[in-house]
Amino acid sequence: MPTVPFTTTLDPVLYFQGLARQELDFHAALGELVDNAFSAREEKFGTLLNTTIEINIVQLDEGSVRVTIADPGIGIPYKDITERVFNLGGQGASRGQLNEHGFGLKNALALLTGGNATTFELLTRSAVDAHLGPDQFLRVNGPLSTTMNVEDSATRNDWEKGLTVLGSAATGTKISVVVPWKYFRTIYRRGTPGLDVLVTRLGEHLGVMHRYFLKENKIRISYQGLGGDTIHRVVQPIEIPFEGEEKTITRDIVVNGKVHKFVYRRGTLDYSVKDPEAEEEKGWPYPLRSYYQGSNARCGVDFVVRDRVIKTSVFEEIWPEIAKTVDFNRFIGELRVGNDFRTTNNKTGLDPHADNWEQLLKALGDVEFRPEKATRSDSEKSLRDRLVHILKGTFPAASVVHERKVWAGSVAIDIFVDDGETNRRVYELKVTSGRVLDLYQLLAGWDGLVREGIQPTVGILVVKEYSQTLLDATTEANTRKDAKGVPYNIELRTIDALVPSL
Ligand SMILES: Nc1ncnc2c1ncn2[C@@H]1O[C@H](COP(=O)(O)OP(=O)(O)O)[C@@H](O)[C@H]1O
Ligand SMILES: [Mg+2]
Repeated sequence: MPTVPFTTTLDPVLYFQGLARQELDFHAALGELVDNAFSAREEKFGTLLNTTIEINIVQLDEGSVRVTIADPGIGIPYKDITERVFNLGGQGASRGQLNEHGFGLKNALALLTGGNATTFELLTRSAVDAHLGPDQFLRVNGPLSTTMNVEDSATRNDWEKGLTVLGSAATGTKISVVVPWKYFRTIYRRGTPGLDVLVTRLGEHLGVMHRYFLKENKIRISYQGLGGDTIHRVVQPIEIPFEGEEKTITRDIVVNGKVHKFVYRRGTLDYSVKDPEAEEEKGWPYPLRSYYQGSNARCGVDFVVRDRVIKTSVFEEIWPEIAKTVDFNRFIGELRVGNDFRTTNNKTGLDPHADNWEQLLKALGDVEFRPEKATRSDSEKSLRDRLVHILKGTFPAASVVHERKVWAGSVAIDIFVDDGETNRRVYELKVTSGRVLDLYQLLAGWDGLVREGIQPTVGILVVKEYSQTLLDATTEANTRKDAKGVPYNIELRTIDALVPSL
């Protein structure tokens, strides 16, 4: 048979439905639009100007929200709209920092519209289109298809809708999408969160993903529940919460004669980012609930490409032989590479077929990059610090000290809370199973204070878990009296009960 050429066609309905079937949650899809907004920053004298991005979320009914995202960037010229950016793989004449594949916008719109089930509207104004009046915008209405329409009848009034601060932008882009609630709630999968919780968790995602951009740029989120007031938030950058000093290593790897640079940071997780008090200290959206949780699934390295965090908690990919042990639950780090490293089309990972990635992952297996185990004394110290923090919040008028020495310095009380009257609390902490010996350590602390004329009101033994024997020993101790004739008052607590979600 002779060779027969044939052409393929693309069924737009099936195609865009298919495009929406990707493992991309709402925040990842929205993240693509945020990337585009950061990439659209204007350049003056060779430097990019800082920008503010606005996201507005309005709950329309039980089943949907309208999400609007706007930037005051360079906008999309008419010619780019009709010839480039809505093509799969199509990129505008000026791509900007984060545009790499020509798939982001289409991926995002396919997903946000629930597989092209709802529609979207895009307004834009570019200085390239000199024929447009200052208050005239181009408008593209979805759905995504192989035939689409653009018109130039959108006004400043249309542009201002849903915006708080960007209403008067000279150029820019605004995209509004009706998003099915079912998809919107992929922001946070636990429980049945309402709008308020989901927007807070969205703030956490964006704060992590765009931590480098948010140093100088801003994302503002406003949202409104059914019949409620509009609430305004500013997303803050969420840094990797290292406890104490982290280690930073800068290295080159050479692949096929080309030098690739990377910066690797690693250290130990500071648990306090998930304490209830973190909100007061660090503001919205703390405490963190999705990242840096100190569990097996959440420990590991963040991958940063072109300043965008594209993946978090990478561990098994690099160190398969030590994954799945709790010894490294507090190991966190970051791997930062430049734009010579490619990502997958939907920006959820490294391009698995790129040689430099392969080499880099191999290099990370070297001992100098190895995670360090968090030792028991590290964990005990960290537990103590967290508990001190919580106790300071609970007893604001009391002094809370750790390592309070008694018996001429030979016995140390882990934590002593003293408000001078009703609360003199002695804490003994163990990250392991409690032993009867630990109880006697606590009693030694109690007696030491009594000897100094300080009467404890309660002693609390905090342990990972306890046996019936320890419980019996505690009950027994409470039938006895100290040197001043005051009955001991000892309580047994587990870490989980006292310091939730450690
Ligand atoms: N908010 C925006 N402002 C200006 N240009 C944009 C914006 N969003 C998308 N574009 C243009 O659309 C092109 C395609 O974007 P996208 O599909 O996200 O590509 P990529 O996958 O490379 O990020 C970009 O190269 C850019 O020229
Ligand atoms: Mg993009």
